[in-house]
Amino acid sequence: MPKTLTVWFLFFIFSFFLAASTGSTAATQTKVTNNPADKLVAVINDNRTAHKDSSLFDNPGLACLALQYIKAYQGDCGAVGGPDAKKPPESQFVEVFAPTCGVKATTLAPITGRFLGCQTKYVHAPEAFSEILIRNQKSLDLLYSKNHTQVGAAVTGTDGGSPYFWCVLFGNGKPNSTFAFEGGVAKATKPGCYSGANDECSGAHDWSPVNVMWIFAASVSIAMGFAFPL
Ligand SMILES: *[C@@H]1O[C@H](CO)[C@@H](O)[C@H](O)[C@H]1NC(C)=O
Ligand SMILES: *[C@@H]1O[C@H](CO)[C@@H](O)[C@H](O)[C@H]1NC(C)=O
Ligand SMILES: *[C@@H]1O[C@H](CO)[C@@H](O)[C@H](O)[C@H]1NC(C)=O
Repeated sequence: MPKTLTVWFLFFIFSFFLAASTGSTAATQTKVTNNPADKLVAVINDNRTAHKDSSLFDNPGLACLALQYIKAYQGDCGAVGGPDAKKPPESQFVEVFAPTCGVKATTLAPITGRFLGCQTKYVHAPEAFSEILIRNQKSLDLLYSKNHTQVGAAVTGTDGGSPYFWCVLFGNGKPNSTFAFEGGVAKATKPGCYSGANDECSGAHDWSPVNVMWIFAASVSIAMGFAFPL
């Protein structure tokens, strides 16, 4: 036990040293990579409000469904668009997506639109928005639709890597009584990130020094979590 503590202490010192030596840039950058799904919702709402449309409520239940929607593709980018495009059957929302998320089926509201994109290269939320998801007038019309009251976004890399999927679901209904979690608690369905749940999440393994630093810090805190109950 004392030995273990010493090791963790050294880890701590080492990570502080690293953090200090990389300076404040690391802190700012890591914030930027925290939860790309939340970033995407921010981009969507900025664009809507600039167009004089309402800002949409970021519903974590709806966002979790978006993550399950991505998972239905099982990493098959080819099924997302083009001539072989596929779409999960609507029945999956009630039968699979909602139970997986712990969203009460009775609180499901109409889905008023969806964006889905897939790409082998990881890009950040603003580029995912402008380069992958919004491609033509049809997608802009959908973005600006008055039928939406809420939104949920998800991003995932297959097995934590390429290809990367982005999904946005728009919904109707009252934000705080629809797409509600059982017991009001968001359920984690890793891997992948979804919006609205106030959690930090990394969408990509980007091996730039800053992100390596972040992964290192994360592994320390996870290890710390395991160390405490000993
Ligand atoms: C909204 O997004 C579209 C598509 O990327 C872009 O053409 C337009 O300039 C954006 N509007 C604003 C105000 O940023
Ligand atoms: C909004 O909803 C109405 C009625 O359900 C539908 O006819 C219309 O196509 C929808 N608009 C958009 C942009 O989806
Ligand atoms: C529902 O949301 C509204 C604002 O959108 C808020 O004023 C109200 O307190 C919420 N109700 C509950 C039960 O959380």
